[in-house]
Amino acid sequence: MASLRHRVPGGAKPTDKREDSPDKAEVRLAPDTKIVTTKQRGNKRRNGLIFFLGGLVGLLAAGFLAQRNDLLDLPELGDISMDNLIDVLPAGFVSDARDLMKGERDAVSYDSFQVGLNLSAQGITAKHPVVMVPGVISTGLESWGTTNSSRQYFRKRLWGSWSMMRALVLDQEGWKKHIMLDKYTGLDPPGIKLRAAQGFDAADFFITGYWIWNKILENLATIGYDPTNSFTAAYDWRLSYANLEVRDQYFTRLMSYIETAYKTSNKKAVIVSHSMGAQVMFYFFHWVAAPNGGGGGDDWVEKYVDSWINISGCMLGAVKGLPAVLSGEMKDTAQLNEFAVYGLEKFLSREERVEIFRAMPGISSMLPIGGDAVWGNATWAPDDLPGQKVSYGQLLNFKHYNGSSEYKNLTMEESLSYLYNTSEQWYVDQLKGSYSHGVAHTTAEVEANEKDPRKWINPLETRLPLAPSLKIYCFYGVGKPTERSYYYHHPENPFSSLNITIDTGLTQDNIDHGVILGEGDGTVNLLSAGYMCNRGWNMHRYNPAGVKIKVYEMPHEPDRFSPRGGPNTGDHVDILGRSSLNDMILRVAAGHGDEIEHNVVSNIETYADRVKITEEPEYL
Ligand SMILES: *[C@@H]1O[C@H](CO)[C@@H](O)[C@H](O)[C@H]1NC(C)=O
Ligand SMILES: *[C@@H]1O[C@H](CO)[C@@H](O)[C@H](O)[C@H]1NC(C)=O
Ligand SMILES: *[C@@H]1O[C@H](CO)[C@@H](O)[C@H](O)[C@H]1NC(C)=O
Ligand SMILES: *[C@@H]1O[C@H](CO)[C@@H](O)[C@H](O)[C@H]1NC(C)=O
Ligand SMILES: *[C@@H]1O[C@H](CO)[C@@H](O)[C@H](O)[C@H]1NC(C)=O
Ligand SMILES: *[C@@H]1O[C@H](CO)[C@@H](O)[C@H](O)[C@H]1NC(C)=O
Ligand SMILES: *[C@@H]1O[C@H](CO)[C@@H](O)[C@H](O)[C@H]1NC(C)=O
Ligand SMILES: *[C@@H]1O[C@H](CO)[C@@H](O)[C@H](O)[C@H]1NC(C)=O
Repeated sequence: MASLRHRVPGGAKPTDKREDSPDKAEVRLAPDTKIVTTKQRGNKRRNGLIFFLGGLVGLLAAGFLAQRNDLLDLPELGDISMDNLIDVLPAGFVSDARDLMKGERDAVSYDSFQVGLNLSAQGITAKHPVVMVPGVISTGLESWGTTNSSRQYFRKRLWGSWSMMRALVLDQEGWKKHIMLDKYTGLDPPGIKLRAAQGFDAADFFITGYWIWNKILENLATIGYDPTNSFTAAYDWRLSYANLEVRDQYFTRLMSYIETAYKTSNKKAVIVSHSMGAQVMFYFFHWVAAPNGGGGGDDWVEKYVDSWINISGCMLGAVKGLPAVLSGEMKDTAQLNEFAVYGLEKFLSREERVEIFRAMPGISSMLPIGGDAVWGNATWAPDDLPGQKVSYGQLLNFKHYNGSSEYKNLTMEESLSYLYNTSEQWYVDQLKGSYSHGVAHTTAEVEANEKDPRKWINPLETRLPLAPSLKIYCFYGVGKPTERSYYYHHPENPFSSLNITIDTGLTQDNIDHGVILGEGDGTVNLLSAGYMCNRGWNMHRYNPAGVKIKVYEMPHEPDRFSPRGGPNTGDHVDILGRSSLNDMILRVAAGHGDEIEHNVVSNIETYADRVKITEEPEYL
């Protein structure tokens, strides 16, 4: 890593102007504080604080400390004064972080390479070329601009590094200007150039010490993978999918990579996608076949792709995505991993966050898909529990507003309509021009949609590729409470430009600071993770070629002593380090995918029965 030589410009100082941000001091306790490493200390306040800061944030502070203690190498920090930074960190943070850091270091080696070594001992070796497609937010973004204001950031990561943190603290305006796309074109603003980092480095670690894909890389390497037969297809997750091709020719590159891998190894590729990567791949499969896309024809996928391993995919979006763009909420929104969250939450107000999220059209691809048919109506939802008082289907609740028609409770469809009605035209245009969130009920509709790129992320409006020998593996975590519906109210701050914010003061019954939790992996709701894999793709119109789908649910059984949850976590991101997941990835890559058993432990079958989407009569 390069070190920072230049001086911080403009005499910027760590700012405390966020003190007046209305939501600054909120500390929300999540229901699963049991995973917190400090639980055993039995100190409630500290537990709350730690959870709020999150394991990663702990690492952040630990990083600062480490600079002093030589625990960690942080070359990118350059010449910022540690004291300045520590000043802006919350009280109590530093000592908690020290403990966390220690916990992480003790736990970090829990089974690096072990899974690979075990399998290797059983004779499992590399077979198919592997392409990894990371999720939203976990890919680093580097500046390549050379204008005056960008030069200082040349080839620094303005997302996913200590440089990001530094820029957020010292040059917030500059950082915002770089990170937000142009509202009208959805591309880089004039004079700014941010590109996804490339290679394995793009997504192995988010910041020093915080692994994302690294454990998978370690294990793959152990059975014989290296840069000649594996590849990280990193993308700029801020862009709408169509613009990934327009600006970066991402899909063209991916297509040619896979073709080359096939030519050189004579083996079809195994694709491993995480989170939003599932949607990117789903889009790619349409694109690659379509005449208005890659032009590969309907048999391209059959010819070049052996399997698609889809980890924690959010094919039907994540409920969390909605409050992010609606009101800048970010209780670890949509897999925003905690480091980023920490920075964004601490240094940016909600109003600024709304603006930033909306100016990243890629994030909006995670708005929930399927409307009320999947997510429920005003009185009922497929995943409601017996005896539930207020249905999950009532997605946005306005408790304190009696009768006033301006604030009626909203279902999923109404909430999206509310979002359209209240947001700026450029955002609405970006959304409507890029994505579609509905349901197609007939084969004719589904087939017609193959021509419409806006539908290509939506598995309820388009079909799987016509690749009868393709295998899809859906691996996802279950059993971690996940945001399912919300209580909203007027913002407390009368000067806020936001019309509504989450009523974080409301905690009663099952409402936790204005949020009602349901089932999922902590980020993606069970309905989104499970519906297509367990039901949707059994329907002829969505899977006419009969692609084989295997589901393996992984219950969240975190190790409380490990900040990242240890070898049995089901958490959306940390699952990438889970032993059983690594084991399965290696088996599929090695051509032993058939050894994996179908494993469904959640209630998804029951919920899927209730979803209001049915097979057409002629295929029943
Ligand atoms: C590796 O194999 C040993 C013995 O078969 C087993 O005890 C251990 O749990 C395995 N480790 C992993 C990470 O799978
Ligand atoms: C960039 O910097 C140069 C020299 O410092 C200056 O002359 C020029 O006006 C600057 N350009 C802009 C657009 O600020
Ligand atoms: C919601 O859907 C349920 C189940 O189909 C139905 O019984 C109920 O009448 C619907 N409620 C409304 C308000 O449409
Ligand atoms: C709720 O009802 C009361 C009495 O009818 C009314 O004064 C008040 O303005 C209402 N509140 C809202 C937010 O509509
Ligand atoms: C919205 O739902 C809440 C319960 O979640 C209820 O208390 C409130 O009266 C409802 N508001 C309207 C306008 O129906
Ligand atoms: C949004 O606007 C449309 C058209 O004016 C209206 O029919 C719809 O009810 C509005 N949606 C909400 C949630 O207010
Ligand atoms: C608040 O509502 C107004 C009027 O509907 C709308 O113009 C404005 O954009 C909304 N603000 C936000 C942040 O959505
Ligand atoms: C990927 O897996 C998720 C569950 O993790 C599922 O919701 C989604 O439908 C899957 N998508 C594909 C294309 O396999």
